[in-house]
Amino acid sequence: MRFLITAGPTREPLDPVRYLSNRSSGKMGCALASAALEAGHEVVLVSGPVALEPPPGAQITRVETARQMFEAVRDQISGCEAAIFCAAVADYRPVSVAGQKIKKTGERLVLELERTEDILGSARSIFGFRGFLAGFAAETTNLLEHAHDKLRRKGCDLVIANDVSRAGIGFDSAENEVILCLPGAREIPLPRQTKAGLARAIIAFITETHPPQTPPSPQ
Ligand code: C5P
Repeated sequence: MRFLITAGPTREPLDPVRYLSNRSSGKMGCALASAALEAGHEVVLVSGPVALEPPPGAQITRVETARQMFEAVRDQISGCEAAIFCAAVADYRPVSVAGQKIKKTGERLVLELERTEDILGSARSIFGFRGFLAGFAAETTNLLEHAHDKLRRKGCDLVIANDVSRAGIGFDSAENEVILCLPGAREIPLPRQTKAGLARAIIAFITETHPPQTPPSPQ
C-alpha cells in the first residue's frame, strides 16, 4: 500500500523572526513512516519542521505552514491508499505577517488570528479521498467523546486518541498509550509502549482492515 503521513508541527509566521507553533517533536509521525516502510509499504511523508532525520526510503515533502501542508497533501493524497494525519497543525495563524521585526514599543500587543485550513477535515470533502483515513485526537479533557466526534465529523475510519494531560507519555517522550476509536463506538486500547511499538500496531491494524485491492484475475 502507499501511505501518506503528515508529521511534526507547523509554524505560522508573525514577522521575519517569530512564529506561532505547537508542541510536536514529530516522533510519532516518523515512527509511523518507519513502521510502514518496514512492513513493505510505500510512504509519502509531509513533514513540518522537526529535528529528526526522516526514515530513509520515504518520499519527503518538507513544509513550514499549515497552508503549505494543506497544498502538499492536496497534491499527493490521490495516489495513496491510506492517510494518517499525525501532524500537530496550528489551528490559527496571524491575519497579517509583519515585513519587519515587530518592536516592543507597548506594554501589550494584540494579535489578530484567523483559522488555518483543516487538512484532515478536507480529505473527504475537498480532496475527495476514498482510501483509509486516520487522524489523531490529542486532548486534555473528555478524550473519547472528542475522538468519536472527530471520527464522525471528518469522515475518518480511525481516530487515535491520546490523553496529553498525562505526564511521561505523549509530548516529546519516547512512549505513549493510545486508544483506537472506530466507527460504531468501537474502541481498542493499545497499552503503554514505545512510539515505535505503537506505530507497528497501528500500521498492522490498518493493513489488516484495509488490505490492498488486488486487481481481478483475467477470465
Ligand atoms: O481538531 P484537532 O486539531 O484536534 O484534530 C487533530 C487531527 O486533525 C490530527 O490528526 C491532525 O493531524 C489533524 N489536523 C489537520 N489540520 C488541522 C488541524 C488538525 O489535519 N488544521
